Amino acid sequence: MTEFDSKQAIESQRILDLLFSYMPKIAAERKMDNLLVLMADLGRSIVSADRCSLWLVDDERGELWTKVAHGVSELRIPKTAGFVGCSVTTGEALLIKDAYLDSRFDSRTDQKTHYHTKSVMTVPLKDSTGQVMGVFQAINKQGGTVDEFSEQDLERLRLTAVYSAKTVESAMLTAELEATQREIIHTLGEASEYRSQETGDHILRVAEISRKLAEYLGLPPDEVERIRLTAPLHDLGKIAVPDAVLNKPGRLTDEEYAVMKTHVDLGYRMLCNSKRKLLRYAADVARSHHERWDGQGYPLGLKGESIPLAARICAVADVLDALSCYRCYKAPWPEEKVKTEFAKMKGSQFQPEIVDALLEHWDDIYSCYRSQNATIDVDAIDYRR
Ligand code: C2E
Ligand code: SIN
Ligand code: SIN
Ligand code: FE
Ligand code: FE
Repeated sequence: MTEFDSKQAIESQRILDLLFSYMPKIAAERKMDNLLVLMADLGRSIVSADRCSLWLVDDERGELWTKVAHGVSELRIPKTAGFVGCSVTTGEALLIKDAYLDSRFDSRTDQKTHYHTKSVMTVPLKDSTGQVMGVFQAINKQGGTVDEFSEQDLERLRLTAVYSAKTVESAMLTAELEATQREIIHTLGEASEYRSQETGDHILRVAEISRKLAEYLGLPPDEVERIRLTAPLHDLGKIAVPDAVLNKPGRLTDEEYAVMKTHVDLGYRMLCNSKRKLLRYAADVARSHHERWDGQGYPLGLKGESIPLAARICAVADVLDALSCYRCYKAPWPEEKVKTEFAKMKGSQFQPEIVDALLEHWDDIYSCYRSQNATIDVDAIDYRR
């Protein structure tokens, strides 16, 4: 073995070790920001660069953006700026010995970050259709006798880019799906809000209060997020309730109340056939948010833990909001009366642990009503049945 060969063997081993140490971290990461930082770190180690960034194309804004490790915010540059922009436009890699001798160089980032760029490599990231979706950029070769990147470094960055492209593509798909789900939920929630003259913030408050309760109950973050996202849909079925009933300014007759109660099944039927897991989960919340812990609720009379947890939580948030705010049929109650009511309903209408969480963190949870109810009329007539 020549000295050159053995150096090569050591270098290959080093790269393999790097890949094996980064791969599990990258595979487990779901957030795009963190993925970009991880892959940039991997690229930087593989080619021994001082800096390395993974830039992604933002077509809507005509920009490239990246996230730097430990940086608070993302960096953005015009889509055509500098070597990175050049690689986006041509789809070709670049290997630059001295940036300042090249007319394509854009020194503005150097000026902003008080840095001196010398050697540069850029490699485009292509998705499965061949579209350029970003650029891998390595700056300033480190650690050797030369301060330039070699053809071999470029080849290594290319391989890292191919691997990164696949990871980014599937992360973008996941992000896109989740964003779509969120948007659907938001739109549906707004639609039901629009129909029933409840105040614009009602749905957001129920979602936010449900999230807080779920958090205080110590549920895992995924479950908390699911509850936050699906709570806004609990009254979706009200969309299909006739206006005369839905917005009646006063007490409902028994017949009208029977019609009103159908909103739980209506909401369930609107959501339960969705292909989206999150919306099927919302269907259960819509169906069960008027069940009671003691089994006296509707539509099924489910009791205790046979009521889905998210629905048990949403029920508390929903009633807290109904009592604390104006409804077409009632004035807001004073704070103390609401609090006493919950203490009374603990164990009958609501699961004791959830009421405990509410009462224990009352100030934090109730704070959203403080300003708006500053001037409630304590003797306001309550039209409720
Ligand atoms: P909502 O206004 O969102 O109220 C949600 C839940 O809060 C009610 O479910 C009930 O459990 C609780 N709640 C509201 N006001 C009071 C109250 O004064 N005292 C107590 N203890 N709990 C209260 P519920 O009863 O199943 O009603 C479902 C929906 O039916 C209500 O949603 C509202 O849209 C409508 N609704 C109920 N009663 C009346 C009424 O008398 N008049 C009108 N116009 N609508 C009503
Ligand atoms: C989320 O947790 O953000 C949404 C979950 C899902 O997509 O099903
Ligand atoms: C009703 O009779 O209006 C529903 C029961 C309740 O007040 O929770
Ligand atoms: Fe409801
Ligand atoms: Fe409600």
